Amino acid sequence: MSKGVTIWFTGLSGAGKSTITRILEKRLRAMGAKVEVLDGDVVRTNLSKGLGFSKEDRDTNIKRIGFVCNLLTRNDVIAISAAISPYRQVRDYNRQLIGNFVEVYTRCSLDACIERDTKGLYKKAIAGEIKEFTGISDPYEEPLAPEVICDTDKETAEESAEKVFKKLEELGYLDHLQSQKSN
Ligand code: ADX
Repeated sequence: MSKGVTIWFTGLSGAGKSTITRILEKRLRAMGAKVEVLDGDVVRTNLSKGLGFSKEDRDTNIKRIGFVCNLLTRNDVIAISAAISPYRQVRDYNRQLIGNFVEVYTRCSLDACIERDTKGLYKKAIAGEIKEFTGISDPYEEPLAPEVICDTDKETAEESAEKVFKKLEELGYLDHLQSQKSN
């Protein structure tokens, strides 16, 4: 098996994608892995600058992220995508494109996300000040068969990161790192 893999996070805004990603990134780097993170908020300030939140624009955003993840994955990098990616079809498109693909669903009730409201966006979305807001006025399609489910309203970010880590191990994506360590 090649060494690269894409870890594809999906879930509502505020569900914990970026937080878990940061923990995972640190841990994988500490093992000597090459890791790159494509975070939704960051991508939208450069690679996808100018795109909005219509279905068409979200699909374009997600395909761009998938394109970059594919380039990284085939060069033995662990690519981590942390975008809402609300539409199943385009997530599955990226899965087919990339092959080495581990989908992680950060499952969190809408109520918990609204309560957290880390960026203050839910309040605005509920007030109608932001249109097409995922979970409020725009759809979110749950993955049907994700490799990992993190119940982020019940477990800590560390526990969630550990689940993803274990799955990567189980699927053999960390074998080269462990063998490097024991040499
Ligand atoms: S995606 O749907 O195309 O995958 P992405 O993850 O890049 O979304 O961006 C989502 C982030 O943009 C949210 O976490 C939030 O900070 C911000 N945002 C602004 N407007 C919206 C909106 N209408 N729906 C969802 N997120 C929004």
